[in-house]
Amino acid sequence: NTGDRVPALIIGSGYGGAVAALRLTQAGIDTHIIEMGRAWTTPGSDGKIFSPMLTPDKRAYWLRTRTAQPVSHFSGGSVDKDIEKYTGVLDCENMGGINVYQGRGVGGGSLANGGMAVTPKRGYFEEILPSVDSNEMYGTFFPRANAGLGVNNIDQAWFESTDYYQFARVGRKTAQRSGFQTTFVPNVYDFDYMKKEDAGQVAKSALAGEVIYGNNAGKKSLDKTYLAQASATGKLTITTLHEVTKVAPAASGGGYSVEMKQIDEQGNTVATKTVTADKVFFAAGSVGTSKLLVAMKAQGHLPNLPGAVGQGWGNNGNIMVGRANQGWDPTGAKQSSIPTMGIDNWADPAGPVFAEIAPFPAGTELWVSLYLAITKNPERAQFQYNSSTGKVGLSWQASQNQPGINMAKRVFDKINSKEGTIYRTDLFGVYKTWGDGLTYHPLGGCILNQATDNFGRLPEYPGLYVMDGSLVPGNVGVNPFVTITALAERNMATIVANDLH
Ligand code: FDA
Repeated sequence: NTGDRVPALIIGSGYGGAVAALRLTQAGIDTHIIEMGRAWTTPGSDGKIFSPMLTPDKRAYWLRTRTAQPVSHFSGGSVDKDIEKYTGVLDCENMGGINVYQGRGVGGGSLANGGMAVTPKRGYFEEILPSVDSNEMYGTFFPRANAGLGVNNIDQAWFESTDYYQFARVGRKTAQRSGFQTTFVPNVYDFDYMKKEDAGQVAKSALAGEVIYGNNAGKKSLDKTYLAQASATGKLTITTLHEVTKVAPAASGGGYSVEMKQIDEQGNTVATKTVTADKVFFAAGSVGTSKLLVAMKAQGHLPNLPGAVGQGWGNNGNIMVGRANQGWDPTGAKQSSIPTMGIDNWADPAGPVFAEIAPFPAGTELWVSLYLAITKNPERAQFQYNSSTGKVGLSWQASQNQPGINMAKRVFDKINSKEGTIYRTDLFGVYKTWGDGLTYHPLGGCILNQATDNFGRLPEYPGLYVMDGSLVPGNVGVNPFVTITALAERNMATIVANDLH
């Protein structure tokens, strides 16, 4: 409430925010999370918390009146449809040259993501974050993050036998026939639960295609792991449907004054509030944190933030693409929504790609292999404040995807030529092969040891910290949440030991 003073305030409840919450509360600090999305704990009229995948309803999207499906087209037409405007779980945020998908609600991206839990290649991690002690990361903090997130691996014998991973086996076989390496990928979806789904013993979630609009069971999202543990300390308060709009040094008594607007489930502002916090942790995600900090600097509320704030944003090289398989290579009417297999061509300097073999759970046989490729695209963009609109934009241009497309093309052209197959040109538009207008992996904008010190502290403003994907320099070569979690664990270990007197 307005006038309150709290020791620690965290903006956002995704990976960075959840780790900060756990380590602060365990250190005995009363901690308050402010989250703009809702708590996904109460079922709708159908008895389910989250929207079905094939018939998305208002719960699926953040304040839109029409869906914005990542695979936007099929056979010459758009697959989108009108929905009611609601504070749903998946935000497709248009940032000019790119649509950035993000999770909204208590748990952030963990509510909407595919759960792929990949520890980055050590050599590449050392290249992108040279100021971070990699012995410590790979000895302590990556294992700590994997344990905290509940990462597990698929039973390989079951993988080989179930109808639900036919699509992944076809993706593996066609990649291997062209000489590419494939690898199993760990996940936070509970694979024991998935086996029980297959056996008909429990309600189906992954095997009912649920994922980007939320999983009604099976997935260990942050509300079930880090945030549940933090809540169990009795020291955590989470306030939902509140969006932080301003952070500035408090007029008196030290600390920071934090302004927020409370919204209803249709997105209307119903109140504005100001509280004071001794410490503020920015964990609003790469886009959320960067937008806030760039605006605060430009508006003169935090004028001494470094020039590196807002710089170095990247889309983790994300490029999606689909192939049409031969008739003798069906991908299955039954598909698990949880990816478990990747094509690893990262070591090839002409085509550095780590491609997830993605499901396309349409409920019918389509012979489509879908891929989400993470390429080593070196292009970066900046967040910029527009003083006439008061909004923060991103400079990313569609043409900046071309290096990533070239890398992905090298891999999939080779597979197509070996298999005698073609690209699907109907999935991302009409006659459009590459799904390059979107990213699931926004990274950077407030890079570690550039915009912050080596542990996420904002210089000149003691008590302000950055703790999320904005610390990661634009590309990490694999799906990013394990890296974001482990970096937050590392930074919090130092902050808890030194900054909380
Ligand atoms: P994150 O975005 O998780 O959390 C930020 C939180 O802050 C959100 O809850 C947001 O609502 C809130 N917020 C923002 N601004 C605010 C404000 N001003 N006030 C209050 N609250 C605010 N990664 C991976 O490793 N494996 C995978 O399989 C996938 N798959 C995948 C699928 C889809 C569909 C998406 C959208 C994303 C993925 N990802 C993924 C990416 C992964 O989810 C992402 O990298 C992390 O969630 C980022 O974690 P952060 O802590 O940076 O922010």
